[in-house]
Amino acid sequence: MKRVITYGTFDLFHQGHYNILKRARELGDYLIVGVTSESYDIERGKLNVQDSLLKRIENVRKTGFADEIIVEEYQGQKLSDITKYNIDLLVVGSDWRGKFDYLKNYCQVVYLERTKNISSTKLRSEGTIFSVGIVTDDTEDNGMVMESKFVSGLHVESVYSEDIFVAREFCDRYELDSYGTDYERFLGGLDIIYIKSAQKNRADYIRRALERGKYVISDTPMTLNPEEYIDSCKFQALSNSKIIVNKEEMEELFALAKEHRVVLVEKLTLVYLRAFTQLVWLTHGALVGDVVAVKCAVSQDDFEGGKNFNETVSQALCACIKLLGKDYLEVNTNAVKGSDGEFIYDMITVKYPRALATIEIGTTVDVENELVIIGSKGRITVPNDWWNTGYFEAKVEGQEFLKRYSFNFEGNGLRYLLQELMIMIRDRRTECTRFFYEESETLAELLKTIDQRG
Ligand code: CTP
Repeated sequence: MKRVITYGTFDLFHQGHYNILKRARELGDYLIVGVTSESYDIERGKLNVQDSLLKRIENVRKTGFADEIIVEEYQGQKLSDITKYNIDLLVVGSDWRGKFDYLKNYCQVVYLERTKNISSTKLRSEGTIFSVGIVTDDTEDNGMVMESKFVSGLHVESVYSEDIFVAREFCDRYELDSYGTDYERFLGGLDIIYIKSAQKNRADYIRRALERGKYVISDTPMTLNPEEYIDSCKFQALSNSKIIVNKEEMEELFALAKEHRVVLVEKLTLVYLRAFTQLVWLTHGALVGDVVAVKCAVSQDDFEGGKNFNETVSQALCACIKLLGKDYLEVNTNAVKGSDGEFIYDMITVKYPRALATIEIGTTVDVENELVIIGSKGRITVPNDWWNTGYFEAKVEGQEFLKRYSFNFEGNGLRYLLQELMIMIRDRRTECTRFFYEESETLAELLKTIDQRG
């Protein structure tokens, strides 16, 4: 009896899937079909799958060609399946040609010609596509255009800038469809607006987009107190100056989003990463006992190519809020200034009833990037650029070896945020559950206090 195996995601089941299953079955006497699990697809960076695992299995079953259906859950499983199920032949489509030659030592491998002009990707692109517009005042993309290509159902269509030259160059460089300097017209045909312009203009752009019923992603912080902003500009260079966040205005924006039944999301990619989410769950599940301290360190130059102080510190505060909660007692900041009066190093401490968070920012000096959680029964460490990571490790009391946790991580994190936003739109959610509006407000409150630094 010749035993055959084949694998696939089988999303939005189509003729190409039917054909390959039929032909695979004809090549032997018993066919096993491996359907990829949701977590394995996410793991390998395939974020655009629309059908649930159950639905995909059911579609394969309905063809009647599969004698057995299994779930493919991890990289390397094919080899173990071949041995476990005593497989004679592995069948895959020609798009995989050469990829599985290494398995020829264990069974026969056949690549079958793909059915022309059909794929899950093509079907997805025929579904509803949400158009994205970018609001910017420089010509650098921070990955939004590139990252959006990994999330199906999204298309970055146009760019807005107050400066026509910036708008035109951005549009040409990233091959968008259109550009403009008239904000109301720009908003017209779009579903999602990403605002990455200077902080002083963000709130106004956000408000106008929300009023038109658009979903909004904004760089963080979203709002600013104009009077204190003017004051701070008088005394300091803008790049490192204290820019005061206006918490009340932020609350108004969130209320506006709810009123228009859309979502306003801060671009805090950290909370969308699988590794970080897992880290938070494990910490809350007392992996290292009660949390006593959280220490985060960031060299500002390493953070997204040198973002300003507020944006850098926001990511660290976001980590502290997720790990220790909103109910802090007090915040203290200490800063070192250079001879020219510019900030070069900051140490911020946020006191909680039974824990302390310390944030170290190397504004112009290098600090060792790291996030460490110290618990009563061990320590968790996220080394290097912890705000963009797929890895962390834990040293737990009584256990001799480090526990290592590793998740696939691709790009700069934005695709995970975009993917989540798509889900929020599809589910018609009116709030972001990865970082609740109340958490954003706590972050704003903390930033406001920190900005009194010096
Ligand atoms: N397949 C095929 N002909 C097609 C599409 C897929 O023979 N037109 C085969 C693939 O080569 C693979 C199996 O069907 O062996 C499952 O493919 P899968 O990746 O699930 O489908 P795709 O349509 O290629 O999905 P995507 O567009 O998301 O990559």
